[in-house]
Amino acid sequence: MKVKKIVFATGNHNKLKEIKSAINSFEIIGLKDLGITDEIPETENTLKKNALQKAKYIYNKTGLDCFSDDTGLEIEALNYRPGVYSAMYAGADCNAENNILKVLQELEEYTNRKAQFKTVIALILQGKEYFFDGVVSGVILKEKSGKDGFGYDPIFRPIGYEESFAEMTIDQKNEISHRGMAVKKLLHFLAIV
Ligand code: IMP
Repeated sequence: MKVKKIVFATGNHNKLKEIKSAINSFEIIGLKDLGITDEIPETENTLKKNALQKAKYIYNKTGLDCFSDDTGLEIEALNYRPGVYSAMYAGADCNAENNILKVLQELEEYTNRKAQFKTVIALILQGKEYFFDGVVSGVILKEKSGKDGFGYDPIFRPIGYEESFAEMTIDQKNEISHRGMAVKKLLHFLAIV
């Protein structure tokens, strides 16, 4: 089976931009292209279950092959928080700014600043479910650095690099990132299925 078009079930335009830039072997359809503006539920307690919940929501609504991702920032000194709760870490009306602030404040007393980003992609293809994951290790910086990227990118510096994710181009980030890694596995699967 040759996949030509697939829906990426996300309301996050930054993620859509990253994924579109990483994939050129088939067409990625965004939810906007389908006129879908729903707030997609993401109420589960693991990345895998959340990713599947989002993909299923769109599959049930459209019947189209689709995938979704869920991502968490796991910080060693904070017992791997915020993890699956990364999106709402600073509370109900949080945003990237106050999520970052909360992490920086909580980490103030620690010297261990090791962290990792983890992504799980859930794919629903002709009604069947498949999963792909990606992890990147790094450290949490003491302050924000860089203007690109989104979410926690300005405070995350991957191991072996001098720049934060927010100081990298989309292509550089995709090359080494959690999502980039999971997408490579997805692409490999779609090429052989
Ligand atoms: P979700 O996967 O959309 O639930 O994202 C969880 C949280 O992690 C949100 O606050 C996102 O902004 C953030 N996030 C997801 N992916 C990335 C990334 O690649 N870099 C930085 N933050 C991210």
